[in-house]
Amino acid sequence: MQHNTLDVNNDEFKALLDKSAELVLEQFAKIDQQKGYHFYPQKDVEQWFDEPAPEEGMDHYDLLEETREKVLNTATGNLGPHMYAYVMTSGTQMSIIAEQLASTINQNVGKWHLAPAINEIEKRVIKWGADMMGFDSDAAGVLVSGGSAANQAGLTVARNIFFEKFDIRKKGLFGLQPFTVYASQEVHGCVDKSLEVLGIGTDNLRKIKTNPDFSINLEALELQIAQDQKDGLRPFCLIGTAGTVNTGAIDDLTALAEVAKRYEMWYHIDGAYGGLAASLNSLKDKYKGIELADSIAVDFHKWLYQPFEAGCLMVKDWSVLKKAYFKKADYLDTSLEKDEGRVDFNEHYFQLSRNAKALKIWMSIKAYGLRKIKEMIQKDIDLAVYLADQVEASSDFELKARSDLAIACFRYKGNLSDEVDVVEMNQKLIPALEEDGRVFITGTKLNGEFVLRACLINHRKNKATTDYLLDVIRDVAQKIGHNHLESIKA
Ligand SMILES: Cc1ncc(COP(=O)(O)O)c(C=O)c1O
Repeated sequence: MQHNTLDVNNDEFKALLDKSAELVLEQFAKIDQQKGYHFYPQKDVEQWFDEPAPEEGMDHYDLLEETREKVLNTATGNLGPHMYAYVMTSGTQMSIIAEQLASTINQNVGKWHLAPAINEIEKRVIKWGADMMGFDSDAAGVLVSGGSAANQAGLTVARNIFFEKFDIRKKGLFGLQPFTVYASQEVHGCVDKSLEVLGIGTDNLRKIKTNPDFSINLEALELQIAQDQKDGLRPFCLIGTAGTVNTGAIDDLTALAEVAKRYEMWYHIDGAYGGLAASLNSLKDKYKGIELADSIAVDFHKWLYQPFEAGCLMVKDWSVLKKAYFKKADYLDTSLEKDEGRVDFNEHYFQLSRNAKALKIWMSIKAYGLRKIKEMIQKDIDLAVYLADQVEASSDFELKARSDLAIACFRYKGNLSDEVDVVEMNQKLIPALEEDGRVFITGTKLNGEFVLRACLINHRKNKATTDYLLDVIRDVAQKIGHNHLESIKA
């Protein structure tokens, strides 16, 4: 009997799944040639989708074809090796499978009995992540959308626990002595945003100057704390960064832990970018002290190669999460449940309904194993060193920052001798490279100076693709130079 649902029968569904698998394989077949970026004017892209919601459904194969043409074939090249912008990783084949399976069972990971297996998997992958970093084998945590959400959650927990005795979850911050947060000048912008959202305000964020390697300057930090105390402010939270977004700089995490302890502050580490690289033997020393944090933000959608979204907040035990977030509600009551030991994530985080981010992480770690994953992280780092070496050895580029963590910052100089021309050239390169599309790279400022910034966290890169980046930049720069000359002549 044919029921009235949205479904087609299993044979038809299988044919559609086969077709969608073909589309996946098509992307993989051209992975090495995949452009970093497909440049289309915004108005064109808007136009492709400019239609009212259809009253009647369309042929599913036609829909897959439309999706292939307008979405898959125009997608920004995160899958392939020519993406260097921001912090974009590659995904894994097993995650593609996992995402499909996760949407098939459509679990809600807000309460244990809504998704028993996924709940336990989520706890497990958080433990695995904590073990990778040497954080705490009893670590508790929660998967969130990304590093920004993880930092915001960490600072929320910090605030709610630190000021628990003032009952701030009920009373708010009104009437409290102003309190201050400390981080380096290189701290990620999500911390500013989090403090705005949390009602602490960015005026109370002290951005401490950095050392030449872009790690926080400890002397300046202590001077600032002492000054704030003198001014009647309450130092509340110290944020260390384990891998800054600009250059991958790692703060002295042990020294920061000592400062936090001495001034009785909450110690949060932003390890969104670099946290998982703490698992590498080559970097163990750099990450010493990570285990001393009260909370850590980590991104599995960075250095565990997961597709978006997969961030994580880790803390030492479940009680702090519960104290920070638990809210009683009749419709969520667990008192009638008999089974001990269930963790209901909605009691430990802001969200109620939550998706199964954990499945792709769990399946990827099991499929590839930590040894291989660490080998890939190390490869990314080695490739960034290779890129920095190539830049340094060439006469037409200049290296601006090396990194322990797979980032290289540099400028194209060509044969330009005037600094103004070099600055202008590098600024022009960003939109010109976007339009060219062969590679996708963005820029940043280091000590106020504009530089190109290449981030290489993608297990599909190699030396040849890295050379290609520099070749494309040269080529596009030469075109800019040529056009400039033509315009002078005209
Ligand atoms: C150090 C650091 N913190 C936080 C974030 C924000 O993470 P997300 O983009 O996942 O929100 C990033 C992103 O690059 C980062 O590098």
